[in-house]
Amino acid sequence: MVEHGKTYVVMGLLDADSLAYSIGKTIQAHGGKVVFTVQNEVFKRRFLDSSKSISDVDKAALDFRFCDITKEDQVRDVFAELAPVAGVVHSIAFANPRTCLGEEFHTDATDDILLSHHISCVSLATVARYAVPAMAEGGSMVAMSFDTGHVYPHYNWMGVQKSALEALVRALARRHGRDGVRCNAVSAGPLFTKAASKIPGFGGLTKLWQASSPLPWDTRADKQAVANAVVFLLGPLSAKTTGQVLTVDGGASMMGGGLMEHEREPVVVSASEAV
Ligand SMILES: NC(=O)c1ccc[n+]([C@@H]2O[C@H](COP(=O)([O-])OP(=O)(O)OC[C@H]3O[C@@H](n4cnc5c(N)ncnc54)[C@H](O)[C@@H]3O)[C@@H](O)[C@H]2O)c1
Repeated sequence: MVEHGKTYVVMGLLDADSLAYSIGKTIQAHGGKVVFTVQNEVFKRRFLDSSKSISDVDKAALDFRFCDITKEDQVRDVFAELAPVAGVVHSIAFANPRTCLGEEFHTDATDDILLSHHISCVSLATVARYAVPAMAEGGSMVAMSFDTGHVYPHYNWMGVQKSALEALVRALARRHGRDGVRCNAVSAGPLFTKAASKIPGFGGLTKLWQASSPLPWDTRADKQAVANAVVFLLGPLSAKTTGQVLTVDGGASMMGGGLMEHEREPVVVSASEAV
């Protein structure tokens, strides 16, 4: 699915729950070489080093660079050092949960909104500026989104950032077609990660998915389905796909209402329970 032995930069590793971790592991399973980026040393110590779900052997084998996506020189240095690369995954977002997420949409914390916009959207363009020259033989960029067709409770300004991110994906796809570089997004259903745990009402989102997803949605196990879609978009099997949003959410976001009882997965009753 990805090109064997080529380098893929997966940006946004925090801990073993991160989508970046599942994506990186999946790229490796398909034969790609993965270099992660971690926001800074403090986060690495606090979240990655202390992680009990990653063995010491795996921790020692992790190839990573520090990169704060708002610091242009750090983004530049990552791609200058790692070139040539075949693909980049932007798995990064931030919004202050006290001001940009929650019950009330309106806020006077404009600086927080702008920081969220910089990290969650504009940074993809910064990455493209330095990653594309490192992809002299062409390549693929994938960003991570969440359903922009509906307005979800509490998601507030992050919903706005994701809409802007998808527009930016299309703009970059148009701009870099001539460089042989594709740019797409994967729109994932709700998955348990550190970022998700900061969204007030995340439990409500998962209940919504349980109520409406035609395919059962598992907020932990389905990270693999999301990672598989990212790997598809990174590799040559999607060679003519660019500027698109591939939704991997069990189907919930296309529904016009909750599942009816007869549309639900049948509950399996064991022989002993049936008597
Ligand atoms: N978890 C979900 O339900 C879900 C669903 C759809 C899309 N997404 C998206 O997936 C992506 C990854 O999020 P996740 O859920 O794996 O959570 P996560 O908390 O594991 O990852 C978020 C990452 O963003 C990084 N980050 C924040 N500010 C940064 C900065 N200034 N510089 C560099 N890195 C910075 C964090 O360090 C962290 O590694 C995000 O874009 C998120 O919006 C998540």
